[in-house]
Amino acid sequence: MNNLKFAIIGAGNMGSAIAEGLLKTGNIAASNIFITDMRAQALDRFKVNGCKTDSNNIKAAAFADIVIIAVKPYHVKTLLEEIKTELVTAKKIIVSIAAGVSIADIEQVVGKVPIFRTMPNTAISIQQSMTCIAEANTTKEQQSMVLEIFDQLGKTVIIPEDLINAATVLGSCGTAYALRFIRASMEGGIEIGFSADIAQTIVSQTMMGAANLILATGNHPEQEIDRVTTPQGITIAGLNEMEHQGFSSSVIKGIITSYNKVKK
Ligand SMILES: NC(=O)c1ccc[n+]([C@@H]2O[C@H](COP(=O)([O-])OP(=O)(O)OC[C@H]3O[C@@H](n4cnc5c(N)ncnc54)[C@H](OP(=O)(O)O)[C@@H]3O)[C@@H](O)[C@H]2O)c1
Repeated sequence: MNNLKFAIIGAGNMGSAIAEGLLKTGNIAASNIFITDMRAQALDRFKVNGCKTDSNNIKAAAFADIVIIAVKPYHVKTLLEEIKTELVTAKKIIVSIAAGVSIADIEQVVGKVPIFRTMPNTAISIQQSMTCIAEANTTKEQQSMVLEIFDQLGKTVIIPEDLINAATVLGSCGTAYALRFIRASMEGGIEIGFSADIAQTIVSQTMMGAANLILATGNHPEQEIDRVTTPQGITIAGLNEMEHQGFSSSVIKGIITSYNKVKK
């Protein structure tokens, strides 16, 4: 792991977040990360940190053991054509994060090399991603290695590729859904007396505590809700009003709407 070399192609939102997350693990040297982008200014902060940077993707692919594809989905095919020789001759491990680009799409260009199709979210920059991973043509050792990498960047789960679209919605779009809940709670908090910044702290920490309760205990959310809802109390009154207004139903409908769109 310490000696693994990474190429991150594309220093946009996700490529940068992954590079930051890898650097924060503390056990991957900056000099073992080669990050590329067409725009030099996107690379400046990584250059300062000691990462290798360049606009030349072939150089980066040649350098790395693991090539992380972090460009927009419509750039993936051209990029793979460009670095194909490096990937195929040295049997590099490809880790693609591109939404909607299937393992078959990748194999069509580079053949049956080891491929991990992953779906992280933006919290990868603070090592709190939920990363769903599907794979093809990989060995057990390669699977353990890639899991070990993403385990340091949050939580991981291996899933069959046909669930990747669902993972995109629940795990990646899910960040935005959770943040919208935080924003709505803040707006309520402001109406009942808090300044925006204090409301943001209270709501964010409460959300994190609630999520950690579930992760730490493995309890069903309703079990934890039962502990907060006194009969005839204030919590159940608020919760029931949210449900009368369609809270659970609107969340479920939103998730299904995103899923129907990602499937197209
Ligand atoms: N955002 C999320 O939450 C999320 C979650 C999971 C997966 N993803 C996936 O992550 C991928 C990247 O998304 P993003 O939001 O990070 O996009 P982004 O911010 O646009 O980043 C992509 C970067 O790659 C650069 N680029 C384009 N072609 C390149 C090439 N041939 N070589 C090197 N760099 C190149 C782009 O430069 P230009 O801007 O100049 O084109 C841009 O800086 C997408 O495939 C997306 O589906 C995103």
